[in-house]
Amino acid sequence: MFDKDRFVDDRSLSLSIKNKGLNYGLGCIEGIRAFWNKEQKQLFVFRLDDHFKRFHGSGKSLYIPIPYSIDQLSEITRQLLLINQVTQDVYIRPLCFKGANTLRPDLNDPLNHLAIYLDLTEYEPKPSINVCVSSWTRVGSNMIPPQTKSTAGYLNSGLAINEAMLNGYDGALFLTREGNVSEGATNNLFIVRGYEVVTPPVSDDILPGITRNTVAQIVYRELGLSMREQSITRVELYEADEVFLTGTAIGIKPVVEIDRRMIGNGKIGPITQKIQKAYDQIVRGEMSSYISYYTSVY
Ligand SMILES: Cc1ncc(COP(=O)(O)O)c(C=O)c1O
Repeated sequence: MFDKDRFVDDRSLSLSIKNKGLNYGLGCIEGIRAFWNKEQKQLFVFRLDDHFKRFHGSGKSLYIPIPYSIDQLSEITRQLLLINQVTQDVYIRPLCFKGANTLRPDLNDPLNHLAIYLDLTEYEPKPSINVCVSSWTRVGSNMIPPQTKSTAGYLNSGLAINEAMLNGYDGALFLTREGNVSEGATNNLFIVRGYEVVTPPVSDDILPGITRNTVAQIVYRELGLSMREQSITRVELYEADEVFLTGTAIGIKPVVEIDRRMIGNGKIGPITQKIQKAYDQIVRGEMSSYISYYTSVY
């Protein structure tokens, strides 16, 4: 379906410094992962269709229409993994951005470039993390919509991450303008209170994460509990029994300290542990009841 010469070494690419997507952050991205299953000698791409559906949604909302269908994007991704003979866990980054070299930051020009690349580095190797509540506020839904994966929106995340790192934390959590807990700089947030698993609603300026949705399935199907979408206050964070972050890159990451306050007993909590274990099995293709989530590469 696609010319082999469209798959190139990224060092051979060039882009004008006038490119509007680059100058103003007029683009949108996705973040997908594929997991290597050693026993089955198979690479499983996790929820590929769902990621490309969200990609198309971002493109539509931001006037950056993606110039390929979901089926075409899936096939390009599979070919990219095949050509690179990937036999390990890998992160896949689709990027679509404005192609014109004109000064005005309008979104009318029909030329949108698409690129998809691979990254083999591990995102956050620590088994648990300590985070702070950022002094930066999450961008509002009527500003740079956080429900899309816009490239411009990651400046908000970048400022929060930098501040956190300079102050000795592993990561940052955002509050909304109203003061509700929103999400992590690049991940969704959950708290556990007794047997209650709670996460902020989409209206609290979050990206509706695909991992977040997978956690909802795990909580219901594997733990027999239910996930509640409900606004969370800052104090509810500090007083939670367990807190964890979720995202494609980070997986399920326990948070054991927030703003120098220990969460629970400062160890990875039992419910977080169960969710983490089920998630790791699901993404690696070890739970057949989730078969609709996988795309096999080989
Ligand atoms: C701001 C933000 N929130 C949440 C997420 C988690 O989304 P997902 O689980 O789909 O990776 C991401 C990941 O890209 C993100 O950047």
